[in-house]
Amino acid sequence: MNPEKLKIAILGGTGNIGEGIILRLALQNLMPEGVKNEIIIGSRSRETAEEAAKQALSELGNYGFDTSKIIITGNTNLEAAQAAEIIILTIRFDYVLPLLDEIGDAIENKILITPVVPMAKEGSLFVYKPPSEGSAALAIRKKVPQSTKVVAAFHNVPAGKLKDVVKCKAVYDTIICSDDAEAKKFVMELTRNMGCLKPLDGGPLNQANTVESLTPLLVNLAKLNGLKDLGINCS
Ligand SMILES: NC(=O)c1ccc[n+]([C@@H]2O[C@H](COP(=O)([O-])OP(=O)(O)OC[C@H]3O[C@@H](n4cnc5c(N)ncnc54)[C@H](OP(=O)(O)O)[C@@H]3O)[C@@H](O)[C@H]2O)c1
Repeated sequence: MNPEKLKIAILGGTGNIGEGIILRLALQNLMPEGVKNEIIIGSRSRETAEEAAKQALSELGNYGFDTSKIIITGNTNLEAAQAAEIIILTIRFDYVLPLLDEIGDAIENKILITPVVPMAKEGSLFVYKPPSEGSAALAIRKKVPQSTKVVAAFHNVPAGKLKDVVKCKAVYDTIICSDDAEAKKFVMELTRNMGCLKPLDGGPLNQANTVESLTPLLVNLAKLNGLKDLGINCS
């Protein structure tokens, strides 16, 4: 894998957190280091993905960025996963395991990034609802081919701030867990170059449950205290 030229699929990238991840990864193409990411937005509908790709490019153009160096396309989740080297699952936990069945072998030998947080609303607040494996990350690892390198990241990053590529000056910690040291290092580097994120090594994948469980806490703290888009900064 050439870290300076990457095909990255964002499955369910038509949604909330997907948009911010897409914009931030696309902007890496304007960095002087010569990074060249090709972003492929995945969706259940090719048309929806193509429309989201057009919108992302137009948004970056409207902000004044040079979009001639940016590549964002759209496709079905399956075709996006087949074409990419890195796959990011920006889909709710309820839909993730059926989607992994659908894309099957397309993720063999690839890095699969999960920001997925299994949580549910109880009354007016959210609670963490991990599956029997202990976390979404471990349930995903159980489901994918053995050669797939699962990396947990981005769980505690607020979507609203991530997509605000012009005004957001805050830096959010993103805790990254994986059993594959090389894949973890790679995703930490990718994250470091996303502008508003600081990667922190969170240890092996079985630590992802504590990271996932912080997200409902952040959402509840925002609601209870009249705040918005909370993230973490522990350093
Ligand atoms: N939002 C945040 O601030 C945030 C922060 C950290 C982590 N996360 C995690 O990131 C993931 C995505 O969150 P989100 O807020 O971006 O979600 P979202 O906007 O509600 O949904 C993302 C995408 O999921 C796809 N989708 C909807 N129903 C589906 C189904 N039945 N089967 C397959 N795909 C379906 C849709 O894409 P198509 O209709 O185009 O297929 C949708 O655009 C979640 O696991 C969440 O826990 C979110």
